[in-house]
Amino acid sequence: MVGLQWGDEGKGKVVDLLTRVHDVVVRYNGGANAGHTVVIGDERYALHLLPSGVLWPDKQCVIGNGTVVDPVVLLDEIAGLEQRDIQVSNRLLLSDRAHVVMPYHREHDAALEKRLAKAAEGTDGDRSIGTTRRGIGPAYADKVHRSTAIRVGDLFHPDPLRAKLRVICAIRSAELAALGVDAPPLDAERLADQYIEIGSQIEPLVTDTVYYLHDCLKEGRPILFEGANACLLDIDHGTYPYVTSSNCSTLGISPGTGVLGRHVNRVVGIMKAYTTRVGAGPFPTEQNNDIGQEIRDRGNEYGTTTGRPRRCGWLDLVAVRYSAMICGATSLSCMLLDVLSGMDELRLCVGYRLPDGSVTDRFPPDATRLEQVEPVYETLSGWSEDIRHVERRSSLPPAARQYIDRIESFVGVPVDLISVGPERSQTLVTDEMADIRPAAV
Ligand code: GDP
Ligand code: IMO
Ligand code: MG
Repeated sequence: MVGLQWGDEGKGKVVDLLTRVHDVVVRYNGGANAGHTVVIGDERYALHLLPSGVLWPDKQCVIGNGTVVDPVVLLDEIAGLEQRDIQVSNRLLLSDRAHVVMPYHREHDAALEKRLAKAAEGTDGDRSIGTTRRGIGPAYADKVHRSTAIRVGDLFHPDPLRAKLRVICAIRSAELAALGVDAPPLDAERLADQYIEIGSQIEPLVTDTVYYLHDCLKEGRPILFEGANACLLDIDHGTYPYVTSSNCSTLGISPGTGVLGRHVNRVVGIMKAYTTRVGAGPFPTEQNNDIGQEIRDRGNEYGTTTGRPRRCGWLDLVAVRYSAMICGATSLSCMLLDVLSGMDELRLCVGYRLPDGSVTDRFPPDATRLEQVEPVYETLSGWSEDIRHVERRSSLPPAARQYIDRIESFVGVPVDLISVGPERSQTLVTDEMADIRPAAV
């Protein structure tokens, strides 16, 4: 399960539905930059680090080695659910090799963004990425640096951890000062005490999740891999440099869990019926006008993690087809179709006009090139009916069916799930997905 746009496609809702027919739900990438919403009746849950299958009481949840985990956020999230009578600790496993997001990663993330935005005051323009400031980039950077990284397993070895933090804090304090942070130097001893204590709290959850997942495979237990962020934010295949710092396409499953791709036999690509993006970076079909505002209002397009208003625009099928290719999508879930009800006409981007006047249907996964394209649209008629209570695809208004048909024909992958509202019941599925039909949920 993976997002095919720039995030917030409605992955949380689909993971929750798919969990019904799986035993184990695994996060393989990212960290608390994700915000996955699940709505069950009157209850709304926003999940950041915990897999979105966690609301099913008997399912096993795993946070894999490819993630970066802020243990303070994790403990908060567990406590928040347990207060709502959802027991988590007894069925959550955390990889000993996941990387720890430390407070200085968050500070570094925020300070760097501030410094890059400041460039706008000079001649260079605003260079900030618009990150979630959750420390994701600096934590993954440390993973690649190696010598300055802390993995979950390191929290259980107090003396080496303390020694390591002394060196890291000296380096980080200098870096933060160079970025203009006006704060006292980091206190390695205090940080060590704090994270040794946090380590003792999370230790019961920690294991070698790679062996665990391979044992599950041997036992034939169905596993659901939950992608966080989305394909167009993938560090290698997204709109670089306006991306996140992990492989959030399905290509991240293998390194992020230790499970080879041949064990994945179905890939559900999640897409919105339109496009949104939070943060900076090119967005060819963006509607920075009344249409965009109308979509934002109707879809309540404000970030689950940061509360930022999301940028909104028409559905970009060139981008979705590219992501479906990268991720190997075998099925599409088209979310938030209800948001488009009442719009006179709808536009679908089916090509990009390049600066030389030629038209391509290929997606350039590079910000500089993508900034230069002009979308080529097809226009379809809209529908005025409220579709939030429609129960099958064949009962949708003809214009809505045509819209979905066009998505299928352009992307070349069947739409097996259509979502017409945030709740489990507001979901239309084909026979391909009959096993998760929400009526039985
Ligand atoms: P995620 O990050 O991909 O899990 O998506 P988010 O949770 O950040 O954002 C999706 C938002 O859309 C959430 O508030 C969901 O409750 C909501 N949502 C999901 N599916 C639908 C739908 O079909 N219609 C409407 N109106 N809202 C939906
Ligand atoms: P879910 O899982 C939307 C975006 C940020 C920023 C860029 C880098 O809820 O779909 P980061 O903090 O990761 O360094 O930010 O990536 N971004 C997301 N946008 N949904 C997400 O997650 C995102 N995760 C990261 O807005 O532009
Ligand atoms: Mg989200």
